[in-house]
Amino acid sequence: MTANTFQRRVTPLNKIDIERLDEDNLFEYEDFPATFDVLGPMLHSLFQEHWQELGLGHVVNGSVLELEFEAAPTACWMYDGYLTVISQGWHMHLCIGENKGGPERTNSPALRQARQVSRAALSRQLNAQGKPQSWGIQFWNGEGEKMMSIFLPSPFLGAGEDFLPEHQPDLAKLAVYENLRQIYVLGTMDIPYETNPLTRPYISVCRSTRCNNGRDWQSVYDAIAVELKAANLDIDLTAAGCLQVCKMGPIVFYSGDDRDREHTWYTRVTPDVAKEIVTQHLGENQKVTRHLYPQS
Ligand code: FES
Repeated sequence: MTANTFQRRVTPLNKIDIERLDEDNLFEYEDFPATFDVLGPMLHSLFQEHWQELGLGHVVNGSVLELEFEAAPTACWMYDGYLTVISQGWHMHLCIGENKGGPERTNSPALRQARQVSRAALSRQLNAQGKPQSWGIQFWNGEGEKMMSIFLPSPFLGAGEDFLPEHQPDLAKLAVYENLRQIYVLGTMDIPYETNPLTRPYISVCRSTRCNNGRDWQSVYDAIAVELKAANLDIDLTAAGCLQVCKMGPIVFYSGDDRDREHTWYTRVTPDVAKEIVTQHLGENQKVTRHLYPQS
């Protein structure tokens, strides 16, 4: 069994950077560790508990994209190093763990490193008087390029993004930023989880016609649901888009658990095979080798 090495208290990096935008504006970045066990709890709590207050997007010179959640995300899970969050009408992927390139493991070490978040910081945009104007989180990839930004609640904005009168900011809106700063930047409070919530195990069935070619993924999904319940296993079940095999469906993917965080793909899964996967692999940690992909 893999030892749980999760640390609830973050060791501060004590690193502050300034990026000057023009004569009147600059960004202040306070870095925190960009590890999976720090990013996982932070992003999970933001997307599960604070989705109503967040914006999400990308800001570079000449371009700004801003998205908001209209309802709670319908998914927040890890696949091959990527955090996937699904909202109404859009979804996002952010590489916060090692991306190995699917079942074929095609990615070079250089590409794995380039894709993964290598730096993360709480950010504040300050005006010429040093007064903060906006609050957020910024990520950089392994090549030092800016990735997406998370926009945190602003005390200057009311409902509908209307500006409040300058002298009447709603300072209670800074609670999310201040809480994140205490936990993840300054390390003065514990991470509010016993373990990284994004390591919670799940099993997934591809519902795309591309790999199923007329075969019935739904009966496989239903068989897994019945068997999980019968075995009383606390493992999430999802129907997913492409799982990077794209042939010999129905395809079933298992994320691995604390015993081994090893991803596993199965091909040509029937309802009977699905039951074997649940009882043997998920229950007893014995893979159903004749359906593994790739076959070794
Ligand atoms: S379409 Fe099913 S695995 Fe790619």
